[in-house]
Amino acid sequence: MRFAVLVSGTGSNLAALLAAEAAGALAPGEIVVVVSNRPGVAALDKAAAAGKPAIVVDHKAYPGDRPGFERALLAALAEHRVDAVVLAGFMRVLTATFIDAFPARIINTHPALLPAFPGVDAAAQAIAYGVKLAGVTVHFVDAGVDTGPIIAQRAVPVHPDDDAATLQRRIQAEEHRLLPAVARALAQGRLVCEGRRVTIADATEPDADQLV
Ligand code: GRF
Repeated sequence: MRFAVLVSGTGSNLAALLAAEAAGALAPGEIVVVVSNRPGVAALDKAAAAGKPAIVVDHKAYPGDRPGFERALLAALAEHRVDAVVLAGFMRVLTATFIDAFPARIINTHPALLPAFPGVDAAAQAIAYGVKLAGVTVHFVDAGVDTGPIIAQRAVPVHPDDDAATLQRRIQAEEHRLLPAVARALAQGRLVCEGRRVTIADATEPDADQLV
């Protein structure tokens, strides 16, 4: 399965995906292109260092024209014969123009136990609310903000002395394991989506403990 990874910033999740691929832990998935909606971000350097095509489709070039931006994204992905899309810190909401091109083939990682704390600054939201458990959710993408069917979640404790930054770091360590594992399961055709409920077929393989 030929993955595009969409990014907007640092790219630590991209780095985790690239490391998994290098270790043979993404197969039969492969990352064939990395696309950023923002020029000059560190994620693009990480992609280039790994020898991946690193492309910018700048949303600012499409003011007031979200469908135009998404059509440009789709064209870039088509050039690389992409089968599936991993959103790894991609900070634009996608609409049906894009989503309908990859049915049940777009996944996202979110640094909270959805449906709690969708949107931006999830770790800060968790600290402000006072929850004792935060976490990470990997989910299919629909047209809402962090509302798609949940594939896998991991809980992370909130420590009394945490601030948003320390909690975010603990969450990210977990998502760097979970996102590649889910991407691999998608590539293996093991994700079964029935309405909102997602199951992982044949969860008896060595990596199963990552996902159940
Ligand atoms: C991650 O925490 C991810 O969950 C959220 O944005 C952050 C991106 O971080 N959607 P990075 O660019 O992968 O380092």
